[in-house]
Order: sequence, then structure tokens, then C-alpha cells
Amino acid sequence: MIRFRERARFDAEAVLLFITEEQWGGKAFPAGCPDSLRESLRSVSSSGFFRAVAREVFVMPWEGRLVLLAGLGKKEACGPTEQRIAVRTALRDPSLRRVKTIEIIPFSMKDEAVVAVIEGILIGTYAWTKYVTPSREDPPVRDKDHILAVAEKAAYRRAIAVCEGVTLTRDLVNENAEIVTSLYMEKTVRDLVSGCSAASLEVLGRKEMEKVGLRLHLAVNRGSRNEPKLIVVRYAGGRKKDPWTALIGKGLTFDSGGINLKPSGHIETMRCDMAGSAAVAGVLKNTLALKLKVNALFVMAMAENAIDAGSFKPGDVLRAYDGTTVEIGNTDAEGRLVLADAIGYVRDRHRPDRIIDLATLTGACIVALGHDFTGLTANDDRLAEAIRRSARATDDWVWRLPLYPELKDHIKSKVADVKNISNYRGVAGTLTAAEFLRRFVGDCPWAHLDIAGTAFNDHERLYFTTGATGSGVRLLTHFLDQE
Ligand code: BES
Ligand code: ZN
Ligand code: ZN
Repeated sequence: MIRFRERARFDAEAVLLFITEEQWGGKAFPAGCPDSLRESLRSVSSSGFFRAVAREVFVMPWEGRLVLLAGLGKKEACGPTEQRIAVRTALRDPSLRRVKTIEIIPFSMKDEAVVAVIEGILIGTYAWTKYVTPSREDPPVRDKDHILAVAEKAAYRRAIAVCEGVTLTRDLVNENAEIVTSLYMEKTVRDLVSGCSAASLEVLGRKEMEKVGLRLHLAVNRGSRNEPKLIVVRYAGGRKKDPWTALIGKGLTFDSGGINLKPSGHIETMRCDMAGSAAVAGVLKNTLALKLKVNALFVMAMAENAIDAGSFKPGDVLRAYDGTTVEIGNTDAEGRLVLADAIGYVRDRHRPDRIIDLATLTGACIVALGHDFTGLTANDDRLAEAIRRSARATDDWVWRLPLYPELKDHIKSKVADVKNISNYRGVAGTLTAAEFLRRFVGDCPWAHLDIAGTAFNDHERLYFTTGATGSGVRLLTHFLDQE
């Protein structure tokens, strides 16, 4: 929980102070600091035990409370990411284990710095603990009462709301695949939009999908006991003539690879393969909470890539919603199939002015960019630039990769219009997948975010714990808000 108060009172069980090396060197202690604390800080400063280097935490008892000094390093090197890491690092310090209320004094009163503190708290201390038996010795950090020593502002309330969307996304991705099925996503979205007059919900189940011809999507789900779903929320928050943005998320509740079964080491985390659709749900939650004045379509393409005698097979040739025939080179390249149909359907029935899709699409994106950058590809430079601006503003990183006409050679088929894997093994898999999607967007401005590396991690990185990160949620909430 986060509360605000106008100025620091130094009366909580613990007080957390962030300090740059420059402030520490100049003995620039926070305003309102009681004399006895000032005295203690001076003595720590002259002892040299704490130097305010980045990620350093120093704990000292003071008048029955704990004071934590958290180093930020040199001011110039302490950007938005490092600030969030500092907040997470300090709040996870073992000395706070038995502390319930913490007063936090931000390093600067600038909006950007306060938002970094808020996100450092809410994103940095998130943990998926549903299946961990609670221990009295180690209560969850997120249950603590965080008191921010700044006056409350709309921008801060907004940042908190955005983090709630991120948390929804992370919970959906972290939860077992057996629980988060297509139907569960439908229920989640139904709950989100219920009572909102600007939003209308359309859900296509198996029957409706057969009727309209979402054949690629149906094929991917054929081995599953769960029904596939195409979930579309139409949110008319803008004016009539404002453009429509479609956000389309890949929603594979589990990706076994299908008949091209994934090997051990690659399959264990594949419940994360619905992270694109979970991010769309997170952005939807934020859009509703912030009552954004935009027109947007929130599309979640839900399926499960399971194995069964009825599963679709390598070598099959299938016809997409838009009529394109597709040779199945590998059943593990299923995300692009589901997305191709969703893109075709949404373009045809809802006529958006731009499309942004989010997908845990390729392992190759992890090879290319690692886990910190989402891969961005686009057929429109202005759209790509706008997304990059939002990425910088929200600390939700993206890096653009190229698309060029000759990529079409990579996915040529001898028996169909296009193939779902590359003819050139082991190279540029992220571009191949993006090129495949490009075939289905036609002339609509489009951007594709490959979040395979950023959505889910088996190690801690930056200010994220292991598991789901909610990548794309802050980015696209900001993007919609800017439009
Ligand atoms: N869901 C995977 C991609 C993925 C890999 C997501 C690792 C998150 C972490 C996707 O459906 C897939 O299996 N892609 C294949 C494509 C290949 C068969 C052309 C891949 O990346 O290996
Ligand atoms: Zn796959
Ligand atoms: Zn997949």
C-alpha cells in the first residue's frame, strides 16, 4: 500500500532515505530532518562506512526506529531504471522484515523521480506467492504500509493505477495454465468491462470461429480440451472521428510446441505464452481506470497448443481467415498463426487505423536482444517512433529491428502462399515471424512487439523478480494516452 503526506515526519517504524554521492559528500540531508538524526548522519558520513554508491544500503537504529540509507551513486549515472532498482533493493533489505510502516523520502520531488519510487515499490516488490506457505519470519514485502513524503498528485495516483494493470498482467501470466484458460480470460475481461458504457465485448468461441473462418486459430487449438476464444473489447472513449487503435495479444495459455514438441528446458515456462493477451488485459484495465479519451480495440487471441491425435500437423496446408494459404512447417510456430487470423478478422470487421500486436513470439528474439529489450518491428516509421517515445517515458524498453521486402523469400512455400517457418534455418527468426505477420496487415500501419524475452524470466533482473514482468503494459498505456 502507498500513502502520501506533505512532508517527512520521521515517525514511522522505518525511514528510508535515498542519497546520491554528491548529496552525501555535501552533507545535504533531507529537509525537516531532526537534529539528532542529522547528528547521526554526520557521524556515519565521517566514518566512511556508507558511501552512497549505487545499490548500497546502510541500516542504523535511531530513537527506537530504523533509518535506511540507500545509495544512488553519482547523480548523472542514476537514471530512471537505476532509481527503481534502488527502491527495490532497499525495500528488500532483511532489516525491514519485521517492519510494517516505512516512511520513504524520495531523492527528488520531480514527478519523474516520485513515479520511479512508486514503481520501485509496486513493481519492484511484486512477488508471486500464492503457492508459497506464508512464514511468520518472512512476511511479504508488498503488504507493508509505504508512506511517501510528498503531497499527493493526480500523476501519482495515475502511476499507482498503471501498476495495478501491470500486477493483473503478472498474476495472469504467473498462475497455472490449468487455471488461466481461454474461458478464465473471458471471465476476467467480462469483469473488467462490466458497468463501463464505453466498452462493448464480443467473444467468439469455437462455433463462431468456425462460422467466420478463423481456421488457423482453430487448427492451433485442435489438440486441446479447452475451447479457443477470440475476445474483442471495443472501447469508444474518444470522439467519433478519432482514430481507432487495435491492440492484439497472443494468448497461448500453454505452448507445448504441438506435434513438434518442445524439449525439456524449453517447455517448463510455456504458460507464459499468453503474456501478450495478459498485457492487453492490463492495458484495458488501465484504460478503464484512467478513463482514457481514446478509441481502442483490445483483442486477445486465446488458444492452447496441445498434443492429441487430433492436433494439427507439420505438412498441413491451411487457409487463413483472409484466404491466404499457409504451409505448416512447424507446429511450434503457432503464435503467428493465431495472430494472423486475429489480425485478418479485426481488420475486416473493425477497420482499425493502426494495429499493435504483442506476442511472446520467438525464442530468436531472446538470442537477439536478451531479456531487457522488447523487439519492435513495424511497417510505419511514425508509429514505431511513437512507441519508442512511450518506451523511454515509461522505462519499458524496446529496440527496433528491421523489416525489408526481401524477407519474403524466407517464408516462400512450394505448396502454399506462405510458410509458417523460415527456409533458412537458424537465422533472424524474429524477422521471419514479423514478416509472416506483415503479410496479414496489408496497408494498415502496424507495429509488432516481440516480448518473448521480456515478459517472463527465470532470473531476477533490473527491478523485476522472477516470473512475469508485465512488459508492454506501462508502454502501451502511455502510448494510448498520448494519442
Ligand atoms: N512461444 C514460443 C516462443 C517463446 C520462446 C516464447 C521462449 C517465450 C520464450 C513460440 O511459439 C515458438 O515456439 N517459436 C519457435 C518458432 C520456430 C519453431 C520457428 C521458436 O522461437 O523456437
Ligand atoms: Zn511455439
Ligand atoms: Zn508460442
